[in-house]
Amino acid sequence: MDRSRNRHSAFGFGVHQCIGSNLARMELRVAMEEWMAASPDFELADPDAVTWSTGQVRGQRRLPMRLSS
Ligand code: HEM
Repeated sequence: MDRSRNRHSAFGFGVHQCIGSNLARMELRVAMEEWMAASPDFELADPDAVTWSTGQVRGQRRLPMRLSS
């Protein structure tokens, strides 16, 4: 979340550019806004318990969080 702007191929590129990329970006922005409105105080509960997916779609499979509110 703290990385700088970069050129990436998450939505494809050229003639294979994702037609839903702007909708997907808006959905993520709204999801993050709603998360921050509902639970502004949160932290990683156990960094050692985080697991990652492998393959083409990267991301956390397990991300234990502690919510303060
Ligand atoms: C995080 C969410 C999304 C990611 C990572 C993503 C990723 C991609 C990628 C990489 C492609 C290019 C595939 C190729 O190489 O041909 C693609 C194509 C496409 N995506 Fe998405 N997409 C997302 C969300 C959406 C949404 C929300 C919609 C529609 C509501 C959508 C509709 C499409 C369509 C119709 C294509 C084919 C476009 C074409 O061939 O002209 N995608 N997407």
